[in-house]
Amino acid sequence: MGVYAVTGSASGMGAAVAERLRADGHRVIGVDRADADVVADLSTPDGRSAAAREVLTTAGDRLDGAVMAAGMGPTPGKIATVAQVNVLGVTDLLTAWLPALQATRGKAVVFGSNSSTTTPFVPRGATRRLVAGDVAGAIRILRRIPPLAPVTTYAASKVAVTQWVRTHATSPEWAGAGVCLNVICPGAVETPLLQGQLDGATGGHVRRFPIPIRRFGTASEIAEWVLLMLSPAADTMVGSVVTVDGGTDAWFRARDW
Ligand code: NAI
Repeated sequence: MGVYAVTGSASGMGAAVAERLRADGHRVIGVDRADADVVADLSTPDGRSAAAREVLTTAGDRLDGAVMAAGMGPTPGKIATVAQVNVLGVTDLLTAWLPALQATRGKAVVFGSNSSTTTPFVPRGATRRLVAGDVAGAIRILRRIPPLAPVTTYAASKVAVTQWVRTHATSPEWAGAGVCLNVICPGAVETPLLQGQLDGATGGHVRRFPIPIRRFGTASEIAEWVLLMLSPAADTMVGSVVTVDGGTDAWFRARDW
């Protein structure tokens, strides 16, 4: 049985993944702001480095897998925090955990979003800066586009983590060392994050977003995909972006291939 780090383990899809891994007999080290094995605030550099260190100590420097589900939705007034959590909360921790993943030839799954392919006019200058870890530089660009800044920042954060995965996954340190790194892109999934969007100012927009299967996904459905991406079935899956969104991305971009 393996040892897995799961960020965002206290709620939604991270909780569903943690529960599913534990049900299979694995040991899970959950990371979240509360109700977790490792309590840390991933929006700050200190919180990220404490979380990275504590997980490594708890895991004995060997991780069979890491699932990066901690994240915030579009949040007015908090666009810098969203960028810190959604981008650096993934990239800083995975960078710190890479040797522990190499020790087992493990796997990592990062939560992207179908908003990374379905949100128009995401400034490339901002995503480039986020991929490079320059959150302040990205925010200077994103602040120029109110009132859409929260939605665009969220999409930019998900474009950035996806690009970070695809540029690192194929490197000697990741694929070359036997560590598979991939992205899962859910569409709208019934979790507290989605409920917050439905209850907020963008609720109408979220409800009108086309979903060909005519329903939201569930956290346990997405957890099944993540488990598959952590399993031996994914031994040759590297830098892949797995969209599981009820058809929204295909609806918008049928010929964009
Ligand atoms: P959720 O809100 O249910 O869970 C997210 C978890 O991240 C929470 O437990 C929260 O405490 C944690 N978190 C947030 N900020 C943190 C911080 N500063 N430090 C430590 N932990 C923090 O959300 P959900 O829906 O399960 O989201 C999981 C991932 O999936 C996120 O990355 C989200 O962006 C992504 N996603 C969600 C979609 C949805 O419709 N629910 C759609 C597409 C992607």
